[in-house]
Amino acid sequence: MYLIIDGKKLAASMREDIAARAASAAEKNGRRPCLAVIKVGSDPASQTYVKNKEKACAACSIESLKYELPETTSEDELLALIASLNGDSRVDGILCQLPLPKHIDEGRITDAISPEKDVDGFSPVSLGKLLSGKDSFLPCTPAGIIKLLKSAATPIAGKHCVIIGRSSIVGKPSALLMLRENATVTVCHSRTEHLADEVRRADIVIAAVGKAKFVTADMIKDGATVIDVGINRDESGRLCGDVDFENVAPKCRAITPVPGGVGPMTVTMLMENTLKAFEMHCKKQ
Ligand code: GUN
Repeated sequence: MYLIIDGKKLAASMREDIAARAASAAEKNGRRPCLAVIKVGSDPASQTYVKNKEKACAACSIESLKYELPETTSEDELLALIASLNGDSRVDGILCQLPLPKHIDEGRITDAISPEKDVDGFSPVSLGKLLSGKDSFLPCTPAGIIKLLKSAATPIAGKHCVIIGRSSIVGKPSALLMLRENATVTVCHSRTEHLADEVRRADIVIAAVGKAKFVTADMIKDGATVIDVGINRDESGRLCGDVDFENVAPKCRAITPVPGGVGPMTVTMLMENTLKAFEMHCKKQ
């Protein structure tokens, strides 16, 4: 029998703990932690994600400021908003929802967010610290994946982890975090030869491809643990992950569902990072 790793339940219990720590830190410092969320344009998925982030802030006793800018916003206008939030002492964390409209250079925007307020962990400073083993804001999805694996008592050290996908948001930072946990790591991507053979060797599979049901039962070693980062729609329009859950799950030791796996943990780690930014900010003042 396989274990379904319940991200919703883990996230709910972590949010209770964050809320209690945020409330006590607020009492001590005379104000609540504050997260500024910027959304440019009207991408429907981004709209849902931003709403989820606002809800999570409310549940965690964290103040949220929302900036909804039109699709026509220029890069300079967005940079000016970020500069003003960087300088605003009431703001602890800044998040600019991706993707941005094509005329805006995402790299320039993530670079512009002050490293002290980079609760997404996407800035070159945060990623550099992660690479060199220093304390930093960890990218939220990879950090959530580690929590999920540990919640399911998954052996990591010395085990073979295969990550499918090499994005800067999930694949690459997940590889660094799994290395930090002493896993042996393989990163597969669109140019990988014999991808199914690589995945079949994995004790832990992290699927972050962005293709519905890409990971099939024949690619999974018996007893593997599978983390599904994908959020896709199947042929009948139903929400599904990158893993063919129905057929893969019976071969697994443990597996995350979609929805209710990685998603709620990503938002929860954002709350954890915002509280950390607040605590660092208050210590400096
Ligand atoms: N778009 C998809 N995931 C994320 C995320 O974790 N942070 C931001 N800023 N944008 C995203």
